[in-house]
Amino acid sequence: MCGIIGIIGAAPACPILVDGLKRLEYRGYDSAGLATLVVGRIERRRAEGKIANLEAVLAENPLSGTTGIGHTRWATHGSPSEANAHPHANAAVAVVHNGIIENFQTLKETLVAEGHVFESATDTEVIVHLVTRYLSQGLAPAEAATRAVGELAGAFALAMIFAGHSDLVIGARRGSPLAIGHGDGAMFLGSDALALAPLTKRICYLDDGDVVELTRDGAIIHDQAGALVERPIRETAVIGDAIGKGNFSHYMLKEIYEQPTVIGDTLASFINPASLEVSLPDLPVDFAALPHLQLLACGSSWHAALIARYWFESIARVPVEVDIASEFRYRAPVLAEGGAALAISQSGETADTLAALRLARQLGQTALAIVNVAESTLAREADGTLLTHAGPEVGVASTKAFTTQMTVLACLAIAAARARGVIDHQREAALSAAITEVPARVAEVLRHDAKLKELAEEIAAARHVLFLGRGTGYAVALEGALKLKEITYIPAEGFAAGEMKHGPIALIDNDIPIIVVAPSDQLFEKTASNMQEVIARGGRVIFLSDAEGIERLGDLAAASVEIPAVDAFVAPILYTIPVQLLAYHAAVIRGTDVDQPRNLAKSVTVE
Ligand code: F6R
Repeated sequence: MCGIIGIIGAAPACPILVDGLKRLEYRGYDSAGLATLVVGRIERRRAEGKIANLEAVLAENPLSGTTGIGHTRWATHGSPSEANAHPHANAAVAVVHNGIIENFQTLKETLVAEGHVFESATDTEVIVHLVTRYLSQGLAPAEAATRAVGELAGAFALAMIFAGHSDLVIGARRGSPLAIGHGDGAMFLGSDALALAPLTKRICYLDDGDVVELTRDGAIIHDQAGALVERPIRETAVIGDAIGKGNFSHYMLKEIYEQPTVIGDTLASFINPASLEVSLPDLPVDFAALPHLQLLACGSSWHAALIARYWFESIARVPVEVDIASEFRYRAPVLAEGGAALAISQSGETADTLAALRLARQLGQTALAIVNVAESTLAREADGTLLTHAGPEVGVASTKAFTTQMTVLACLAIAAARARGVIDHQREAALSAAITEVPARVAEVLRHDAKLKELAEEIAAARHVLFLGRGTGYAVALEGALKLKEITYIPAEGFAAGEMKHGPIALIDNDIPIIVVAPSDQLFEKTASNMQEVIARGGRVIFLSDAEGIERLGDLAAASVEIPAVDAFVAPILYTIPVQLLAYHAAVIRGTDVDQPRNLAKSVTVE
């Protein structure tokens, strides 16, 4: 799961490659590297850690050349060291790779037996040796690359340069995405259009199995069967401008504060404010007759799906199943004939989510997607797509993408309910009014920032934190725990409040902060009892509720944060804001890397 870029042109390649890598850093930041052709010779520079470290290496030891490839890594095979950083190279060929070569061990054993000496612990290095094997048998670079690629199992997007071939970059893909940029007297390869955005607007995407030969004059593409093919070139709308943090100290905080605006932007494209009617773009699904909806996602997007299940079932009476995409793929799912599968993803590039949606389609389901990145693979592949209008999300921890996903899902649930005839116009207007109020109410919640910052002191010092909730509040609890652990590294768990007594209550002692998500809805009494149970055992509760809930139980809690009273339908969107802010402030107090936490990447493009 990495970002790759390639360039062949007239200008010095190095600054262009570094700039492209910065745009791809969301795909991983364990190490970075470049290789260029300098008077026909392969030269490379690599550094462990972020691209800034590579820039420091280049400042000491610059790299010339107008043909080159670059890589930013999220380690899969081998530690994030310089030795394992891409490009992997020898005197003949340099290779950058995004994906996983599943048969690398077998290939490596054969190559070692043939006398090849490996320098890294990566799966990628087998490609260098395979290509070298075929070059030394006298094959031309394109033939050698095609032969090598034919032996690989797994998922990959590759870019390669060859010693003595200054007018050639070879790319190949299977599973992982690869875009070609057409410039004037220059050609580019990149993991996505964003990497290439400042270089050219003319983009084409390779199909699975394609191998491309780039020269300064253009691209020659062969498909998996070896046939010469053309892939359509489109004008991309992706804008590659650098996104600033404004006056905020971190992207994550800026993105938390953008939520009233981006939820409003998202609503504007789905709800008519005058008639309070939901109007969705045409989707190839008849919700009136839909027998089953399968939701597929990972991480925070999966939490949005969990919340949506409550909505689709209670409001629209649609039978719904929710799966973690990586589990769905391997559990032989039985799906209803004529059903639909809806994948939810910020990036639209998450490998597991993509593969799960492809499987659902193979199983006869209409493939739908909710994505934030309009030109992502998921958006391009789905039969119907709804966009969240969160704008670019840079912080690795998802915030505004998550709340805008909930916004779209809420609108979709209302539209499905209307189509199925299970709500009347009055109820639709009431639900739409509730969701239309959300931007203003989220802005109110943000006013508790200073208080949440104080409460974060206790969280930051904790060795373990629990989040409890029921119904949609349970999914918010899961999201709160995920946010906290990914940016503070404090073990945190979210539990269905009613499940505590079946085991987790044994964890409770005086030292574990427990955040209770408890809007005064129909489940309030039940959650309240569970809260009493943990308090009775010495638990210190941070109570998130509305005025009524705090009036009733606030005295029992160590601290309370008052969330505006809203229709229970939209409560999960509001209750997400305090758990985001608690995690953010706790991370700042602990001094972790808030926007790029260790071991993570913004877009998870490997299985
Ligand atoms: C958590 C987070 C991840 C993503 C997950 C899915 O803060 O950001 O859990 O939600 O990797 O990513 P997308 O939505 O891009 O498919």
